[in-house]
Amino acid sequence: MHNAVSVLDLFSLEGRSVVVTGAGSGLGKAIAEATAEAGGNIVCAGRSAATDVIASEIQSSGGRAVAQRTDVTDEQAVEALMQRAVDEFDALDVVFCNAGSSDYFKRPHEVSLDEWGDVIATNLTSVFLCAKHAVRHMLPTRSGKLVLTASIWGEIGADSASVPGYAAAKGGVINLTRELAVEYANDGLTVNALSPGFFSTNIGQDKEVDSAIIDRLVDGALRRMPTGRIMDPDEIKGASVFLASRASDALNGHILTVDGGLLAA
Ligand SMILES: NC(=O)c1ccc[n+]([C@@H]2O[C@H](COP(=O)([O-])OP(=O)(O)OC[C@H]3O[C@@H](n4cnc5c(N)ncnc54)[C@H](O)[C@@H]3O)[C@@H](O)[C@H]2O)c1
Repeated sequence: MHNAVSVLDLFSLEGRSVVVTGAGSGLGKAIAEATAEAGGNIVCAGRSAATDVIASEIQSSGGRAVAQRTDVTDEQAVEALMQRAVDEFDALDVVFCNAGSSDYFKRPHEVSLDEWGDVIATNLTSVFLCAKHAVRHMLPTRSGKLVLTASIWGEIGADSASVPGYAAAKGGVINLTRELAVEYANDGLTVNALSPGFFSTNIGQDKEVDSAIIDRLVDGALRRMPTGRIMDPDEIKGASVFLASRASDALNGHILTVDGGLLAA
């Protein structure tokens, strides 16, 4: 043994200040729960009251968490979010840039410029803003971890639904991960991405989408998944704690695909 840190200690987030955007539901909720259970102090960020509920639930189960209502497309709100973590927990150690929403499921030639802009703002510009304002707090301490949520649809074309803006945004998140990783490698930061496959969450529920499109999407997902099932949000927990913790210190610019083997098939 070269040092006294046990392998399990490498995964501990004890006392780390962790921001999770989109913490009110789905993958963000699971990430907030997991990082709290690993010992982190969590700022649950999101647009809705659900964020307050998650923070309360974490507190009730003995963890430390606060809620901050944040629209991640609003730069001032994002700046205030990162400051809140520092004010509340004296540091900013880990930021999950996770909030996002679905596309409008229209074929590319039917997408309006407003719809395109909305999807890019929510899924790509928001991630840039979170990274920008997180890094400003991390540079002086020469430490910090960013974890960006991408998607397998940023890695391959989607065959069961038309998602041009979402695919472009998530592809952007993937290469933004690499660009940030290289840029800040000598500043003591790491930047990695989670790239989820198909998980059962609230995604898409904020859009009015024809049920036939949803049925095709679900059928396509089930057909492509080697396991034949859509995953539960809890199944992102292990990968999220790994990327937030010292266990992943040697990874930088890595895209960790969590897809039950879909891209391998
Ligand atoms: N569910 C999947 O199968 C899947 C697959 C690949 C990637 N993803 C990505 O995972 C992330 C989480 O999505 P999810 O599946 O958990 O869906 P979800 O809808 O359950 O959660 C997304 C959360 O982000 C919040 N949000 C949306 N826009 C926001 C904004 N402007 N400001 C603040 N919060 C905002 C929503 O309120 C919601 O709480 C997203 O980036 C999504 O693109 C999901």
